[in-house]
Amino acid sequence: MGELLIKGARPYGEGEPVDVLTRDGVIIEIGTGLAADAAEVLPANGQILLPGFVDLHTHLREPGREDTETIESGSAAAALGGYTAVFAMANTDPVADSVVVTDHVWRRGQEVGLVDVYPVGAVSVGLAGKQLAEMGTMASGVGAVRMFSDDGHCVDDPLLMRRALEYANTLGVLIAQHAEEPRLTRGAVAHEGPNAARLGLTGWPRAAEESIVARDALLARDAGARVHICHASTAGTVELVKWAKSQGISITAEVTPHHLLLDDSRLATYDAVNKVNPPLRESSDAEALRRALAEGIIDCVATDHAPHAEQDKCCEFAVARPGMLGLQTALSIIVRTMVEPGLLDWRGVAKVLSERPAEIVGLDEHGRPIAVGEPATLTLVDPEASWTVRSSELASISRNSPFEAMAMPGAVTATILRGRITARAGSVVARAGNSASVAAQDRGGR
Ligand code: DOR
Ligand code: ZN
Repeated sequence: MGELLIKGARPYGEGEPVDVLTRDGVIIEIGTGLAADAAEVLPANGQILLPGFVDLHTHLREPGREDTETIESGSAAAALGGYTAVFAMANTDPVADSVVVTDHVWRRGQEVGLVDVYPVGAVSVGLAGKQLAEMGTMASGVGAVRMFSDDGHCVDDPLLMRRALEYANTLGVLIAQHAEEPRLTRGAVAHEGPNAARLGLTGWPRAAEESIVARDALLARDAGARVHICHASTAGTVELVKWAKSQGISITAEVTPHHLLLDDSRLATYDAVNKVNPPLRESSDAEALRRALAEGIIDCVATDHAPHAEQDKCCEFAVARPGMLGLQTALSIIVRTMVEPGLLDWRGVAKVLSERPAEIVGLDEHGRPIAVGEPATLTLVDPEASWTVRSSELASISRNSPFEAMAMPGAVTATILRGRITARAGSVVARAGNSASVAAQDRGGR
């Protein structure tokens, strides 16, 4: 594979710039004034070097809705966003409830070669919440599924959830719960509160999420199993996760960039680009989420990147599909919500975007320290850059970014997967022999 020399980068944004030399996908030397004749050189000009980002929650729409995202287009968006690993949720068509689908997702991701696409297996057959999927078969397939989730749906039957946790425990895999008590969200499209009431939108109470978080913490306690809470959205969820951790329960939680930055005042336009599950909450919830992420009560950031076709978004609010693009805007939103207000330094950013998510799913090739002998799986960030979101320029096939036209601080300038540059200066870098197809997705310039 050869050598790559990153010239003048600041690991974790600390200290004086250093050179990082990699060979065959591994960091072999860190120092100043390094030279390597045969090496490809990446000038970093004092930019910040972080471990490659890991997204525990990505919706790629392959198989089934390749008109909205494919493993290839989603991989391009991920690489441009600084990600080296993404977990592709199971709510595809067909559902990823069999090893045929999960192995396909893994293989296709490797073929594209821009990020490691880890398949998430469904907890229940067809996401129907009735019968456990063949978790063991998926876990032992080529795709080696290590996380299971019915995301998009909640595993609401407590007995099925308990069994899933028990099986997961024996298999050494993780259950990630989309916490939503469906009997409390029938017809709900917006956070239950003054804004939804004024706008005439059916409300989604905080308790719909919090009741499941509390229940699952207790189920995990009794099963001696781990549970991961997807997209925490309320101040109450923060309190419950904090309590569960204080009891020694193995619970982890993620928060999305959109729940950190946005609130339900955005709904006033009835533009369904702001429709998402769980819904955008109140500014007090967003504030509690930011604090909880800074304090480690919430473990990590996950995008919930959810591409949707124009016809599924540009329609009546009540019938529009929920979800937002997230892969290419995540880093900048973390800079805006966490770094600029002094809630996280760059070590902290490395932790929430890379190290903790990798730990939660037990990846040993991602989220590693920047040190000799470690994988050269890295992201270079220019903290001084600023850019404006234009969804037409994002690599996703879909356009549903709620951040359209927003000015963003900080930019990913290069992403490196096992010593190979996958994105650079806003363009994806296709692997030799893969150029034709991936180049077609190269719409990420900024
Ligand atoms: O807003 C959402 N969109 N929330 C989910 O849980 C699923 C996702 C999707 O698949 O579009
Ligand atoms: Zn979800």
